Amino acid sequence: EKGGFEFFMDKEIEEQPAAVAQTLLGHFDGSGIVLDELRLSEDDLRTIDKVFVVACGTAYHSGLVAKYAIEHWCRIPVEVEVASEFRYRDPVLNRDTLVVAVSQSGETADTLEALRHARRQKARVLAVCNTNGSQIPRESDAVVYIHAGPEIGVASTKAFLGMLTANYLVGLALAQARGTKYRDEIAREYEELTKIPDAIATTLTLMDPVRKLAQEISTAKAILFLGRHVGYPVALEGALKLKELAYMHAEGFAAGELKHGPIALIEEGLPVVIVTPSPVTDPLLHSKLLSNIREIQARGARTIVIAEEGDETVAPFADFLIELPKVPKLYQPLITTVPLQILAAEIARAKGFDLDKPRNLAKSVTVE
Ligand code: BG6
Repeated sequence: EKGGFEFFMDKEIEEQPAAVAQTLLGHFDGSGIVLDELRLSEDDLRTIDKVFVVACGTAYHSGLVAKYAIEHWCRIPVEVEVASEFRYRDPVLNRDTLVVAVSQSGETADTLEALRHARRQKARVLAVCNTNGSQIPRESDAVVYIHAGPEIGVASTKAFLGMLTANYLVGLALAQARGTKYRDEIAREYEELTKIPDAIATTLTLMDPVRKLAQEISTAKAILFLGRHVGYPVALEGALKLKELAYMHAEGFAAGELKHGPIALIEEGLPVVIVTPSPVTDPLLHSKLLSNIREIQARGARTIVIAEEGDETVAPFADFLIELPKVPKLYQPLITTVPLQILAAEIARAKGFDLDKPRNLAKSVTVE
């Protein structure tokens, strides 16, 4: 059942183009985005004036990405919070608030309790979930299923890309209901999303050098990850994968924060992974990242740069360059996450760890 792979996780990483394609399937009916189960009227959606995304772990990182897309498309404020914090701090909620609960398993107790709290305060709840018939979708007003298929590896990979995809669909559905995007713009966004599975497949064919790099840096005592805009949650996810799988000290930072503290950690030989935006679609942030990369390299750290193909300006400052296919700015996490998953998996493999069952972790945590 592992299909010739050593671990389920290896297989699940390879299944990511299909996970994204399946998640998109059937959500566009020719004139607009359709959600799965919608026990909310268009009017209910139209009056939403605040969105909270609540989730745990990797699902939380998918929410951080969603914030950039939903605020950009819908012009409503989005807050993203780990479910265990949200529930206990008395957040301001009412019937015009949409709480998006993201969960692979649909059974995570922290997320479920956050959702119940939101419902008691009359907020609307939408679930993004990979498991049919699980508790979180059962208790929600609307559902978008991630059709990633069953995920066995405890550290989430294909479900994460599925969550990102489903979150984009939620954002587009909201933009449609609120009229902040024209129908043809929404159709175009959906069209762009349908091209992503091919770009992920291409990315997967480029990973052998990353596997080799993983061998070389598997004995490092820590690895840092930096990114900006949607690259920032990707950096956090890269660091989380490394902690979960390789039991290595890893931290993700917003690259702009580097000079406000983390730069003190930079030392000779330290591997630093930088998720760089496109010089074409995001020249301003690209130039800022470029100066971060130079600073890091000048201090002797080992720069591992994830960049868009054809980005010649970063090459001189990259000790190791990973060039990935060009996709629209908001969708980059669907591509840039892949090498970070491979990096963590290969470092863990080099250390002889079980990729499917990392120590101390459970696939779904049903206690708060
Ligand atoms: C954790 C898992 O306990 O729960 C993580 O180990 C996962 O991998 C998190 O991201 C959230 O799980 P779910 O099922 O709610 O997405």
